[in-house]
Formats: sequence, C-alpha cells, structure tokens
Amino acid sequence: MSTAQTAKIGIVTVSDRASRGEYEDLGGPAIRAYLDEVLTSPFEAVARIISDDQEGIEATLRDMCDEHHCCLVITTGGTGPAVRDVTPEATEAVAQKLMPGFGELMRKVSLEKVPTAILSRQTAAIRNGALIVNLPGQPKAIRECLDAVFPAIPHCVTLLEGPWLEVDEERMSIFRPKSK
Ligand code: MTE
Repeated sequence: MSTAQTAKIGIVTVSDRASRGEYEDLGGPAIRAYLDEVLTSPFEAVARIISDDQEGIEATLRDMCDEHHCCLVITTGGTGPAVRDVTPEATEAVAQKLMPGFGELMRKVSLEKVPTAILSRQTAAIRNGALIVNLPGQPKAIRECLDAVFPAIPHCVTLLEGPWLEVDEERMSIFRPKSK
C-alpha cells in the first residue's frame, strides 16, 4: 500500500448521556487528540456519539468497518459491569476474530493506575480488515490504554492489508517485525 494512502479511523463514543446531549463528549475528542499527537501519516476520522444500545453499537461498528472501510475503530465507554454496558458484547457480536491480548494488556497497565481497572471488560476484534479496540469511558483512560497498545497497532493494520500507519518516533516506538 502507498505511504500516502489516507487511513480512515472510526471514533465511537458510547454513552447514553452524551448521545442525549446531557453530557459533553470528552472521550471522542480525547481519542482524536491522541491520534493527532501520535500519527504522522494522513488519516481521516469518522466520529459518532451513540447510546448504550447493543443493536445500535453493532450497526455503527458494521457501518465503520464495512461501509467506511476504516482500518481502525476505537470505542470509548460501555465496557463496565452496569446493565447498559454492552460495548464488548456488541464488539464480539460483529467480530470475525477476537483479539483478547488488547484487553489483557490494557487492564494490566490500567491496574497500575486505578484498582477499578478490573471492572472494564474492554476487548478488541477484527472485522472486514478493521481492528476494533474498546476503551473505558473515563477520558484519562484513553491515553493510559492507548499508550500501551498503540505500538502494536500499525503492524496489526499492515497484517490486515490496511494503510501504512506512521507514528511520531519521538513520541512512541512502534514494533514492526522485519518479515512476516
Ligand atoms: N482504566 C483506566 N486506565 N483508567 C480508568 O480510570 N476506569 C475503570 C475501568 N478502567 C478506568 C479504567 C472503571 S471505574 C470502570 S467502571 C471501567 O473501566 C468501565 O468503564 P466504562 O463502563 O466507562 O467503559
């Protein structure tokens, strides 16, 4: 793939209150700011704010992966134990492959910050060439989690035959095996 290819990246805020406009969406803009900070290759963000409704989350994830052809979709919110927290279920429902290592690593690093990290059921999955990664809803969790898993994301996107993602090497060292 050409280095100039613009990557499409989905940003999905899952929150009943934010979707009703009762609460300012801080998570979506925090993900966007993180991508602006870390990525040096061109990308276009496709952002949505939706309620904690499993069918709606699944439809949004399918739309981002199948219609918008995002190579990466990052969700925030709805990963906890509450009745309305169903983002991991929606992610697993649309998944063609599960990527449990992402959730394992994010919980591990998050536990060093907050004991309630074990309450997040955040996971990751592949659908139609897109990597879907769940983050908790706390805006500060976004950087804590992405700093841990982002070094593996460009190579994952390459394995999915997506665009070549470049990161600011002064900000983050990514890992790309020499050959696959
Ligand atoms: N992980 C990090 N890194 N930072 C956090 O503040 N909050 C935890 C957990 N994981 C948190 C975190 C809390 S309090 C909850 S309830 C769960 O994520 C689920 O959050 P969610 O339902 O908003 O996704």
